[in-house]
Amino acid sequence: MNKKARRTTVAPVCFIEHTGELIIGDKYIKVMSFWGYPTMFTEGFLAPLIGGQHYYVDMLTEQTDLDYASVLKGERNDIQEKLSKSTDPSEIEELSQRREALDEFIQENVRMKSSTINCICQLYIKADTREELNEYVKEVKNTFGSSAVGISLRCISLLQQGLFRKNTPLFINHGLRKEPDYLNGQPMSSQTVAGLWPWIFDTLDDPQGTLIAREMTSGGKIIFDQFFYRNNPALAKEMNRPNGNMVIIGRSGTGKTTTMNLLIHGHIINHRKIVWLDPENKNETLCRYVHGNYVALGLDGNIINIFDLKPLSTDSDQKESKEIKYSNNAAIMQVIEEIKITFSLLWPNISDDAMAMIGEIVVRTYESVGISTEGTFEHLSVENYPTFTNFTATIKRMIEDMKRSGSKEHERELQALKELEMRMRSITGSNGVEGEYGKYFDGTTTIASDSLESTGMIAIGTKHLFNVTPNLKNALLRMVFNYAWSLCLGHEEMPTVFVNDEQHMFIEEPSLASILAVFQRRARKYNTVTLSGTQEVVEYTNPQILKDGKAIFNNACYQVYMNLTKDAITDLGKLISLSDGEMETLEQLRPWQGIFVCGNKRIPVEFLATERELSLM
Ligand SMILES: Nc1ncnc2c1ncn2[C@@H]1O[C@H](COP(=O)(O)OP(=O)(O)OP(=O)(O)O)[C@@H](O)[C@H]1O
Ligand SMILES: [Mg+2]
Repeated sequence: MNKKARRTTVAPVCFIEHTGELIIGDKYIKVMSFWGYPTMFTEGFLAPLIGGQHYYVDMLTEQTDLDYASVLKGERNDIQEKLSKSTDPSEIEELSQRREALDEFIQENVRMKSSTINCICQLYIKADTREELNEYVKEVKNTFGSSAVGISLRCISLLQQGLFRKNTPLFINHGLRKEPDYLNGQPMSSQTVAGLWPWIFDTLDDPQGTLIAREMTSGGKIIFDQFFYRNNPALAKEMNRPNGNMVIIGRSGTGKTTTMNLLIHGHIINHRKIVWLDPENKNETLCRYVHGNYVALGLDGNIINIFDLKPLSTDSDQKESKEIKYSNNAAIMQVIEEIKITFSLLWPNISDDAMAMIGEIVVRTYESVGISTEGTFEHLSVENYPTFTNFTATIKRMIEDMKRSGSKEHERELQALKELEMRMRSITGSNGVEGEYGKYFDGTTTIASDSLESTGMIAIGTKHLFNVTPNLKNALLRMVFNYAWSLCLGHEEMPTVFVNDEQHMFIEEPSLASILAVFQRRARKYNTVTLSGTQEVVEYTNPQILKDGKAIFNNACYQVYMNLTKDAITDLGKLISLSDGEMETLEQLRPWQGIFVCGNKRIPVEFLATERELSLM
């Protein structure tokens, strides 16, 4: 006997065959054959079996010469014959329904030019102990063997070893007969086989979507529409996709920015408005390519004026009327709040008395340029609003008025006003010398907000705001975020995308995390979707910002996890439940591969960027 012949017949030393199971090394294995299928099932219904580590599905298909429609017609004639003989009304009802379903199916098969395929399907179950193996068998029988689902599975003891050999590279020969008829192969239409196929149906085909990725194992296409909740509301509810927010998490260089840019390309094609916060001033090329408006803050005299009145947004389900949304009073109150937060960031030692004066000064500042707390501001534009120059002038005027009145009653107010006047020197300057914060805060907004309507994109580069002291940076970024959000609110009738890459650079700061959490909650109501990229999962679980971090994460129906460090996977595990298989997958993902959570589904994907798209990034 030559060596090769021996290898084909001899099992490995650690391979033991029992009735009902195989033991190889320290694993217990059972091979079960699909003996019958349900008469009706949804596409991809076997897919749950390949999600875990313990089940493997093996399908063997053979094209046959059989005309499946003819087979079905035979079946149809049998039913028809029974029907003509039956007198029992409930039987007649049941048979008629079956005949109707079959007619539809036959027509569909003819229309689709389905061919007939002999399909042989096995399920492999793997476990560490015999008890565990029996548990898995029970589990699969409960899930798929119930009368509602109706799969019939059997373990054919005599064929177990052969089937296992056939699918294991350890063996050269499986000893099974060539023709697979004895394996209970079932003739079925090619369409039914496609329905059984478990590897392809975790793909996505949103009607208004763009192709962004392929499913990692099957190659199925992922055509994704971030505005699915608006474009297909009923289906969105069913699929647990009630908003359009997306977070992409992955270590450096895994393709987050590229993936975000792919999505943005899709949005541009679909004429959606893009408001883009770019902390590294990296996206100028793409922005200019689509003739968007790129603004580098901290450079070129670019300014956002905190006094711009902004539309009101609320958490309530009800839409606000225009009177409320654009109410001067509500908007001025928001500005007072923002100025207070800004001042407390710029000057942590500012006195309570000075803070208490801000409300009145702001209202008088608006009055000084003819804007009262009555009425609405819908038709006002950036040139109409006051600036910090007006604010300082108002303080000075109030001081003069108080001095003139000579009353001692207002001594405390006077002191507070004087403190503010002193502090304002760093913004509005003194004696002809510019204040050091002036270039960031004092002036009319230089961004043409109507450019969002005309060009479709405003990108704000905030890189230069990261070179200043942390408090100044945070004060400025709050202003930028509020401004960007007001752009999304102001274009409510147009779908808007709020993009925020490198989110970890922002949300580690609690005062920024809190406003981002609010946007994330409200975006849906205002026809906006958010797109955030971050390297750090830890930011979402950071105890300092825990509530807001979790809110940002949990209010995103769409999440992508690219390759993560072990620590990051542990952190992610605090936010969602991950199976062992998913944890393993996460560690092994190669660049631009990820797990895409899309409502109810978790799909392993590989993002697809063309050379042209890559060259624009
Ligand atoms: N789908 C893709 N196809 C081909 N190349 C890609 C793809 N995605 C990313 N790349 C390439 O990988 C590199 C890193 O991608 P990218 O900058 O998007 O990663 P990142 O996760 O944003 O990194 P960082 O955290 O450092 O910002 C880039 O050079 C990009 O060209
Ligand atoms: Mg990046």
